[in-house]
Amino acid sequence: NDKRGVKMEKEMINQLIDTAIYQLKYSYTPYSNFKVGAALLAKNGQVYTGCNIENAGYTATNCAERTAFFKAVYEGERNFKAIAIMGGPETVKGPDCDICAPCGICRQVMMEFCDPETFQIILAVSKDKYDVFTLRELFPLGFGPADLA
Ligand code: THU
Repeated sequence: NDKRGVKMEKEMINQLIDTAIYQLKYSYTPYSNFKVGAALLAKNGQVYTGCNIENAGYTATNCAERTAFFKAVYEGERNFKAIAIMGGPETVKGPDCDICAPCGICRQVMMEFCDPETFQIILAVSKDKYDVFTLRELFPLGFGPADLA
């Protein structure tokens, strides 16, 4: 349990981080060499994965988080509980991860499909070194579907 009373078992967090780490090898980053992996947990327990995919036209780059969200939504999922994110520069030893916080565009995409008060964003450095935030904490006053209702 985290401080906000949303049940998130440590075992589940570790599993999501592990899955995010595994995605780093799919990361396509010829321009930045900055590898990011994500593991998105749906409320039904299904996990959707993502990596960042860069492009010669830099703005066409897709972040790991959005890859995971778009894969999930494409497959019919719209209810999400948490996402684990892991990222850092590629070195000779492999990716050297530090906390990698989602970019503004990814936070906006999360806002579309997640309850900002309960959606958990796990920023991992390693399997047992991580921080957990709600979407609201990372995206205060975010604009979302409720604003158009
Ligand atoms: N990136 C992500 O995939 N997720 C983040 O949370 C931050 C940044 C990617 C985009 C680009 O491929 C590389 O990291 C450097 O910005």
